[in-house]
Amino acid sequence: MKVNPLPGRKRAGTISTRASLRITTASPAETQRLGRLIGKQAEPGDVYLLTGDLGAGKTCLSHGIARGLGIKGYVMSPSFVIVREYRTGRLPLFHLDFYRLENQQEICGLGLDEYFYGPGVTVVEWAERATGLLPPGHLSIKIEIAPDNVRHFHFAATGEKHQRIIECLRSSNCRVG
Ligand SMILES: Nc1ncnc2c1ncn2[C@@H]1O[C@H](COP(=O)(O)OP(=O)(O)O)[C@@H](O)[C@H]1O
Ligand SMILES: [Mg+2]
Repeated sequence: MKVNPLPGRKRAGTISTRASLRITTASPAETQRLGRLIGKQAEPGDVYLLTGDLGAGKTCLSHGIARGLGIKGYVMSPSFVIVREYRTGRLPLFHLDFYRLENQQEICGLGLDEYFYGPGVTVVEWAERATGLLPPGHLSIKIEIAPDNVRHFHFAATGEKHQRIIECLRSSNCRVG
């Protein structure tokens, strides 16, 4: 797992801030490890918004986050379920997947705010399909697919609460081998 050596500087022309970071993984196992790091740092009320094409690694990362929270029995298979709740870990995990969402009306009645502002950690796959219903304070994780099983994870935090995860991922003492 490679952390961008220049903190916050993603590519020429983008603005460098303390609140952004790019991490590259080269296998599903590395992506899970990255997720596990995030899960270990997770705090109540954290919201992680995942975007990226089908097969980018959103579910793989979510699985790692679940493991980092100490959750057993995470369901990896693609599913038709929009919300799954896991309550066997250090904190509750609410896993939302908007892949099959036809329109935002469908999720208006789900009481999303109870997840976002509740005592657990919320991970949203296909977050771009629910813009307008998502909380302003969050960690955005955009996954870019590259050749040879490489995935680039672009992290951006809004608010100090979520910035701490970026700071942790940037620091070497947060890494697992
Ligand atoms: N570096 C990587 N990180 C994550 N997944 C990878 C990586 N390289 C290859 N893959 C493959 O990409 C797929 C990712 O699937 P998944 O996590 O379900 O994607 P998504 O939820 O974004 O649709 C899996 O088949 C996995 O084996
Ligand atoms: Mg998925």
